[in-house]
Amino acid sequence: MATLSTTAPAATTYSAVPLVGLVGKQAPPFPLYLRTSDNTWVLYHQAQAALDESHLGRLQAEGIGQLFVRDTDRTAYYERVEGSLDQVLLDRNMPLERRADVLFGVAMKVADELMAAPPDKPTVLRAQRMMMATSGLLLRENQGFAAVRRLMQASHGLATHGLTVGFLSMGLARVVLGGDAATLLQAGLAGLLHDVGKVGHEQLDHDPEHAVRGAALLRGLGLPSPVVDAARFHHERHDGSGFPEGRRGPAIPELARVVGMVDTFDKVYSGKTPRVGVFDALRIMAQAYRGCFDDKLALGLVQLFR
Ligand SMILES: [Fe+2]
Ligand SMILES: [Fe+2]
Repeated sequence: MATLSTTAPAATTYSAVPLVGLVGKQAPPFPLYLRTSDNTWVLYHQAQAALDESHLGRLQAEGIGQLFVRDTDRTAYYERVEGSLDQVLLDRNMPLERRADVLFGVAMKVADELMAAPPDKPTVLRAQRMMMATSGLLLRENQGFAAVRRLMQASHGLATHGLTVGFLSMGLARVVLGGDAATLLQAGLAGLLHDVGKVGHEQLDHDPEHAVRGAALLRGLGLPSPVVDAARFHHERHDGSGFPEGRRGPAIPELARVVGMVDTFDKVYSGKTPRVGVFDALRIMAQAYRGCFDDKLALGLVQLFR
């Protein structure tokens, strides 16, 4: 007997993308659409057809500041704009939330590739550029951190965990370390890469060696010493109860303290079933990790989410 399928074909969905970053040496490998009404998109530009500034200039003259890509083309889109991410994030024709979407898509792709295998120099350089663009956004836009944070979900796996800790470390560094561009960049990289020593060892439940292993890997890749030290010491605790050296208080490098605090927060926030809110996670953390973090950082984290 023939079985009738009851599932309808999935409707095509689209995402708005800024015009900035679409023109490049090669033609875009995906089609671009214009939205003509709430639920209607028309093909504006065919895949693989040359696109130059004059096309976009005509759109801008008409007051159109964005085009649309099919959601199935988003990965190809992120690949295309990765090299011009900072210009995309600067484009005030696009609402901040849309720009944060693009940032998040590119960042997730970079994080996935970083954690797929022990990273090499070119991938780390891509991470550096991505975090530099992010720090620019956070420094320029008052609501930049809030826009990025809205996109964060519970971490599951090294890539989402690294990215969450990277973005939150930037936010916390801005609150407690003053946060010039160079500090934010180091905080973002340190957070993103703090568990890189686990890559290739994911089968281990208990792996205290990952801190030292990760630091050695990052040193070999030429990362600055605060980033290397953050990987090495992110499990040290204020009261000396951490590892690998059992360092106390000020003997723990500043950035390692920032990353360690945010890392623990993400563990609590992402690990609770049923899910808890941010402030419940902060409360649980304050009780369960009493003495582990200094007051300035703990207050800074609360301030960050306020
Ligand atoms: Fe760790
Ligand atoms: Fe971690």
